[in-house]
Amino acid sequence: MEIKNVCVIGAGVMGSGIAQLASIYGYQVNLVDINENILEKAKSSIEKNLNRFFVAKGKISDNEAEEILNRIRLVAEREDAITDVQIVIEAVFEDMDLKQQLFSELDEKCDEDIILASNTSSLSITDIGTKAKNQERIIGIHFFNPAPVMKLIELIKGKNTSNDVLETAMKFSESLNKTVVTVNDSPGFITTRLIYVLCNEAINMKKEGIASTEDIDTAVKLAFNFPMGPLELSDLVGNDIYLHIGEYLAKELGEHYQPSPLLTKMVKDNYFGRKTNKGFYNY
Ligand SMILES: NC(=O)c1ccc[n+]([C@@H]2O[C@H](COP(=O)([O-])OP(=O)(O)OC[C@H]3O[C@@H](n4cnc5c(N)ncnc54)[C@H](O)[C@@H]3O)[C@@H](O)[C@H]2O)c1
Repeated sequence: MEIKNVCVIGAGVMGSGIAQLASIYGYQVNLVDINENILEKAKSSIEKNLNRFFVAKGKISDNEAEEILNRIRLVAEREDAITDVQIVIEAVFEDMDLKQQLFSELDEKCDEDIILASNTSSLSITDIGTKAKNQERIIGIHFFNPAPVMKLIELIKGKNTSNDVLETAMKFSESLNKTVVTVNDSPGFITTRLIYVLCNEAINMKKEGIASTEDIDTAVKLAFNFPMGPLELSDLVGNDIYLHIGEYLAKELGEHYQPSPLLTKMVKDNYFGRKTNKGFYNY
């Protein structure tokens, strides 16, 4: 099956980035969220990003930017958004109940051959699809932030995902000029599991007082040639997000993944990182 039209559900940070990316590569995109206000904000952030990172840098012309924007249709009703598309990409909040509910509804309403993909960054794809009848068409397509820029897509094959769906999702991902890795369903996949462990261990080191925040970050950056240290990364992603991931991984994979007590305390005290202006650093 050839993918031409894409529906993206959730127009937040990731959904708007995925819509922009797909449109850049010529796909018609229906972008849907819970209200029109969010959709308008998403469209103006896409417009800003296109101007700042593509037009201003001479990568595309004003006209091309306009065409990219025009290929993205803001849709208030989900039923309307899933009409005449070949793939639905879900990018709503990272909440298992919400995603299960949504995939069960999508499975009921979408034609049999439409691929249903989740952009979850940690949740089991098999579990997300557990309330759907046709689980063969459910797959994880994990984009990274910002989606139009980052080179990787992690494809997650659920226990019931068919090989045909995997193959089509692979072709679609490659058509977006991404490098694709495939992983069998497992909480946190490759990337989230590894980055969580690195950040959580750095937080444990901070708690044990073995080095300062700055020195932990400097050591990791310079020793491993990483662009960012784990503590500044945790502040950027959100300490609340890492706590959530850690609790999920500990529940699914074992005690080894238990969040550091310092991480738990910081979130309790509202030290979420950049979004609350305080975390391992002050902003
Ligand atoms: N932010 C990241 O760096 C990142 C990276 C990769 C994957 N992810 C994953 O992408 C997903 C979205 O993350 P985000 O950072 O974009 O979140 P976000 O909070 O910026 O956006 C989520 C959007 O989903 C909308 N939404 C919620 N319920 C909805 C529903 N029932 N129907 C339609 N829209 C609904 C919200 O209104 C909101 O606009 C999560 O699963 C997250 O784990 C995030």
